[in-house]
Amino acid sequence: MFWFQRPKWYENAVIYQIYPWSFQDSNGDGIGDLEGIISRLDYFRGSPHSLGVDALWISPVYPSPMKDFGYDVTDYCDIDPRFGTLEIFDKLVAEAHKRGLKIIMDLVVNHTSREHPWFQEARMSKTNPKRDWYVWKDPLPGGLPPNNWLAVSGGSAWTPDPSTGQCYLHHFLPHQPDLNWRNDEVRKEFKKIIDFWLKRGVDGFRVDAVAHTVEDKRFRDDPVNTHFVKGVDLPYDEYLHMYDENQPEVIGVINLICESSKKYRDIFIVTESYVDLTQLIKIYDGCTYRNHTPFNFNLFELFKKPWSAEIYRAFINAFDKLVGPKRVPTYVLGNHDHRRVLTRFGETRTRLLALMLLTLRGTVFVYYGEEIGMKNVEIPKHKMKDGFATLIENPSILRDPERTPMQWSDDLNAGFSEVEPWLPVSEDYAKVNVKTERANPESMFYLYKMLLYYRNASEALRYGEYVPRNAKSSDVFFYSRKTSKEEWFVMLNFSNEIVNEELVVEGRKLQIACSTYMNTPLSSKENTVTLRPYEGVLFTSS
Ligand code: NOJ
Repeated sequence: MFWFQRPKWYENAVIYQIYPWSFQDSNGDGIGDLEGIISRLDYFRGSPHSLGVDALWISPVYPSPMKDFGYDVTDYCDIDPRFGTLEIFDKLVAEAHKRGLKIIMDLVVNHTSREHPWFQEARMSKTNPKRDWYVWKDPLPGGLPPNNWLAVSGGSAWTPDPSTGQCYLHHFLPHQPDLNWRNDEVRKEFKKIIDFWLKRGVDGFRVDAVAHTVEDKRFRDDPVNTHFVKGVDLPYDEYLHMYDENQPEVIGVINLICESSKKYRDIFIVTESYVDLTQLIKIYDGCTYRNHTPFNFNLFELFKKPWSAEIYRAFINAFDKLVGPKRVPTYVLGNHDHRRVLTRFGETRTRLLALMLLTLRGTVFVYYGEEIGMKNVEIPKHKMKDGFATLIENPSILRDPERTPMQWSDDLNAGFSEVEPWLPVSEDYAKVNVKTERANPESMFYLYKMLLYYRNASEALRYGEYVPRNAKSSDVFFYSRKTSKEEWFVMLNFSNEIVNEELVVEGRKLQIACSTYMNTPLSSKENTVTLRPYEGVLFTSS
């Protein structure tokens, strides 16, 4: 069982996601870059002031026309000049490794850029050797799309290509034609690409949009979603994605990626599929490699439900049990495609969720800026950059607001750049920034630092068993993390009121390690602890 073996680094890692456009500009062009990331490596690991995370996942830095900010690649074996060069990338890997920090590349497997030389060749004629690298179909009579499949970014998933009159498939923007993963040459090419980066020393891949890599062979129409509410749901959800997403063959793609990394040590693969728990477990079961785990995005679904301990308790208990001790759960509160967690819940509840995230079993992901409480920034229409936004007039899909520059200090442009950044800096940057929060022991930054300190120092918090516990109040989500040697307890008060809880569990008195209220002390009387509104507390036991 996994907690009796020596765990692999990724089985309990905290992985920090960097959105390279917005992390640190080093050359004064208003865009973040690799030298900028290198200059900030001590922030993560290697100094007493570091946060103490285990790895960085860097969103794509490949050459790209940036219609989807790097998720539209024109060369999988190079670095976009906006971000640096291969030499600088090598330096980043070496400098990160010196500090014991791993580097995870983003691997965009479902599609290329329309400007990729492969697509440029493929579109030339129906008999071009690269034609079958992409997915082509004749339009229906009257020039209608071959079927009803929709692009996530809006509109039909098919675009007619004038050179041959056929349509090509794109699950995202028309600039991002889908590769055909049923084609052997495509599969071979990706094995080479994976090898190229592993030879350079990267420690893993976050595999983009893997759920879309294989489609129904017969190209059947997706059924109508009878629960769809126009103007409320995303246009993409008008149909149930029965034939264009999450096909059984996707497991084959995941296995191929894992297989290609087998000869290197301890490579971590995490794949992107937005699926419910039942489907998620099928992905775990289908993949034969222990170094793979699918992202679990189901917390995002909970965010749409009423805020209650019961909902979180039921979800985490169920997920941890379904995953079981031999496999690794993952948890995420935010990423570059979703509204920031602080914007959804406000500071006090976000602190509770941070405590939960960093004390759960498995691999957890922190989106840049979460650790200082960055929030979504309202972007005037003329400054919006997201290609999705220009296609869909649906405010909930705009992704610029969660991608604004990292707030390092109260200096000009929050210390991100000397010139006007590509997206506006949040107005709250004079207060919400790394430098100011470092000087404030009650800040969000300190909460993250302290939680990471405990997670790094405690075997139980890193790879102990997750044990659901019963609290007196149904508003309190209570659990522990346990090895044979130690046990830590977590109480999360989801209510907006004071709640009293027992301090003695199975004859052991709990001792407060840290509260989301930080410096303001908790009151505990004899065997009772008083939790304040939305307070989360971490306890050790004697
Ligand atoms: C998922 C990525 O997270 C998103 O940002 C991107 O637009 C799509 N995949 C397409 O690559």
